[in-house]
Amino acid sequence: MPKVAVLPGDGIGREIIPEALKVLQAVLSDSPLKFEFANYLIGGAAIDAVGKALPADTLTACQEADAVLLGAIGGPKWDTLPAQERPELGALLPIRKELGLYSNIRPVKMIPSLISASTLKEDVVKNVDMVVIRELTGGIYFGEKGRQADPPAAYDVLLYTEDEIRRILELGFVTAQGRRKKLCSVDKANVLESSRFWREIAEDMAKTYPDVELTHMYVDNAAMQLVRYPEQFDVIVTENMFGDILTDLASMLGGSIGMLASASMNGKKGLYEPAHGSAPDIAGQNKANPLATILSAAMMLRYTFDLNHEADRIENAVARVLEQGYRTADLAKPGDQILGTREMGEAVIAAL
Ligand code: IPM
Ligand code: MG
Repeated sequence: MPKVAVLPGDGIGREIIPEALKVLQAVLSDSPLKFEFANYLIGGAAIDAVGKALPADTLTACQEADAVLLGAIGGPKWDTLPAQERPELGALLPIRKELGLYSNIRPVKMIPSLISASTLKEDVVKNVDMVVIRELTGGIYFGEKGRQADPPAAYDVLLYTEDEIRRILELGFVTAQGRRKKLCSVDKANVLESSRFWREIAEDMAKTYPDVELTHMYVDNAAMQLVRYPEQFDVIVTENMFGDILTDLASMLGGSIGMLASASMNGKKGLYEPAHGSAPDIAGQNKANPLATILSAAMMLRYTFDLNHEADRIENAVARVLEQGYRTADLAKPGDQILGTREMGEAVIAAL
């Protein structure tokens, strides 16, 4: 029986996850596979209940599951805790590391009916269709960090092993092979040694993938090119922190960060979550956009369980509700009729 560990987390996570589960149940109702979904605590909710952002039983359940579906974590209530105990460093980074989720995949594709929701000009964003692949368990996020007293200073080390670079680049090349065969490796090789090393490895690997056109781009230029001429990108591959920054930027190319799904993978095993945060300002008000979570659930069906038909049904249903003009507040223009979180979930189910 396929097992999914469900971690609603904090803030709007507790509203958007139930909608994604309802959609999954609807789409899986005629499937011969019987899925087991079980909820566990993570983040601030876990700190409040058991004093730890990533409780041991949550981690064990995630290790035993085939896939993890995560809402969002964090909030002002826990921001005053010591950094290592907060939801981000205490739960999200450790779960990525413990499950070995070294690749983060964020597809950004313009849904035609959302063109006007983007803050960028229609001509610039209308043909956007890219995948950003971010290395997720190495680099500056996980390097040695610390403080020194005299003179007062702090440091974070950016270190990558050759193996870490090869496995993420390999995913980049293979993903490009399945798309338009263009791979852009983003680095800062004019300044950073780790980037020069990354670039050498990419060049070496390119010989094994002659059908893929490999280019390199400095991260500052990539940020500029993403808003200038985003159509040029097919697959972007980059290190952890550059990827963190560029994926937030890229999310606006698809209309709204409320639409950006993400998969963090280690082979077939994956943790699926929306790319946005826990939005404490609108939590508990039935205002959050559940679509990124619903689309993350579709990625789960596709990547972990090979249920492409079911994943297509969900993605098509999301496109359809948007075509019909349904909008949550984050996507709405003046005059649009605004749906709440639950109503949007119902609309997707009706469109399946
Ligand atoms: C993301 C988030 C996290 C990250 C934060 C919450 C630690 O921004 O998943 O992109 O930086 O990786
Ligand atoms: Mg981020």
